[in-house]
Amino acid sequence: MDAQVLVAYATKYGATAEIAEKIGQVLREAGLRADVLPADRVGDLTPYQAVVLGSGVYMGQWRKEATTFLAANEKALAERPVWLFSSGPTGEGDPVELTKGWRLPTAQQPIADRIRPRDTAVFHGVLDMKKLNLAEKVIIKGIKAPIGDFRDWNAITSWATAIAAAIADALKQGAS
Ligand SMILES: Cc1cc2nc3c(=O)[nH]c(=O)nc-3n(C[C@H](O)[C@H](O)[C@H](O)COP(=O)(O)O)c2cc1C
Repeated sequence: MDAQVLVAYATKYGATAEIAEKIGQVLREAGLRADVLPADRVGDLTPYQAVVLGSGVYMGQWRKEATTFLAANEKALAERPVWLFSSGPTGEGDPVELTKGWRLPTAQQPIADRIRPRDTAVFHGVLDMKKLNLAEKVIIKGIKAPIGDFRDWNAITSWATAIAAAIADALKQGAS
């Protein structure tokens, strides 16, 4: 199989980078070639047949590296299968329920509507008080967000496995 997939991410404290690495690992185990890169270190999308883009969520927003990537590459993304994910809510339960139905920052929705991603996932994230700056600690204490690493590696692996299957299907259709 010869598809090359880009997994681009934007992170502040590393939780999203590790999710992106896991997605890349699952794609490679499925026989695809996958580059896992910070979104601000990606140049041309020409080598990639599919793109996965994810960001950590801060105050309902994606990190700037992810929003800049999305805007700068809109045309190339619209021509490829794309999957989007966010790493955000902490605590037990469905991450979309935890964020009251939030799936993507409002500001990025118009571009997403044009790109038409195959799927938009929200995964649980990480809050490590030792890493946060003072302002962030105040915010997190104020809203009493659960502290800890809530990432659901089974959910992340299942999502990445479904991406690999969809890319394999697309390749088969392209070859026939
Ligand atoms: C100040 C602050 C604000 C946050 N705001 C949100 C939010 O609005 N929605 C959400 O789901 N998660 C929010 N989070 C949780 C982060 O998205 C979560 O910690 C994520 O896993 C961080 O990813 P990163 O380590 O890749 O930057 C916030 C965290 C901090 C510290």
